[in-house]
Amino acid sequence: MKFYFAPMEGITDHVFRRIHHQYFPGIDKYFTPFLSPTQDGRFPNRALRDVLAEENTGLPVVPQLLTRHAADFLWAARQLAEMGYSEINLNLGCPSGTVVAKGKGSGLLADSAALERFLDEIFAHTPVPVSIKTRLGMKEPEEFFHLLEIYNQYPIHELTVHARVRTDFYRVPVRQEAFGWALQGSKNPVCCNGDLITPEQLSTFEARFPESPAVMLGRGLVADPALVRRAQGGAPADRSTLRRYHDALLDGYSSAFGSLRNALGRMKEIWFYHNCLFEGGESYMKKLRKTTDPTEYRDLTDRIFAELPLRSEGAFPQW
Ligand SMILES: Cc1cc2nc3c(=O)[nH]c(=O)nc-3n(C[C@H](O)[C@H](O)[C@H](O)COP(=O)(O)O)c2cc1C
Repeated sequence: MKFYFAPMEGITDHVFRRIHHQYFPGIDKYFTPFLSPTQDGRFPNRALRDVLAEENTGLPVVPQLLTRHAADFLWAARQLAEMGYSEINLNLGCPSGTVVAKGKGSGLLADSAALERFLDEIFAHTPVPVSIKTRLGMKEPEEFFHLLEIYNQYPIHELTVHARVRTDFYRVPVRQEAFGWALQGSKNPVCCNGDLITPEQLSTFEARFPESPAVMLGRGLVADPALVRRAQGGAPADRSTLRRYHDALLDGYSSAFGSLRNALGRMKEIWFYHNCLFEGGESYMKKLRKTTDPTEYRDLTDRIFAELPLRSEGAFPQW
């Protein structure tokens, strides 16, 4: 089974991907957080930086696009193909109100005719294979059966199924039975995503769906950067590697954002998930969340690494 790092806006950017790959190799693909091409034919600056070849050298990266305009998708796909990318992912899952209101992300799932017109156009002209990351529908999981009929008309490189409907947001547990529907009903290769957080959950998933060719992991991998290695029977991350990994992220973000102080916001996003790798990590989170002082940040993280036992079993909270 292949293992992919899920796109996570505000976390899995080029700095994070490069350092994760360096310390915890073995991820088959990293999907970028979504890029929205603008209608005047350009990428916003920060988004462009995230996909620049020099920021992604040696990494298996798949850029993700969020748009409902076929012309914009094709413009962006051509740019990305010229930059050397060999797969583009289409986001049909984002549940955010502003995105859905514009008919993008999971919003496009509400209008089958528009979805088909869009897919007709992009699959007729794309210069590189296109994969899709989809939800099950807008409101009811059974909408997925009709969506599958639509998806089966196209040579989708890989169909990643995030087994929730839009109105679930991230609140309700993933509807695991829908992985079975996808694995049985899809003519295209399927990848399963959602709530696969611990090695134990991954092995239960594999026992239930042994035919699944790939899984995509998000929050669990941010929490435990060695999750895939552990799922494959390897060692958990040791304290000194975790410390060096953390320091590399802090350095990477300090130079990307211009100062240590600026890097703290991003590090706090990561700690939101990562703290649960440490027994009692929650006790430091309140202070960590509040601080804007690099010295206090260093002091708190020094104490986490020095004092807290590492959690070896999956005792992760439901985020
Ligand atoms: C903070 C955050 C940002 C996300 N950004 C994206 C994104 O840019 N594109 C996307 O397709 N999904 C995005 N997702 C959804 C994740 O890719 C993934 O589908 C979700 O976290 C469920 O997987 P998990 O249970 O393994 O975390 C995001 C999720 C979170 C929590």
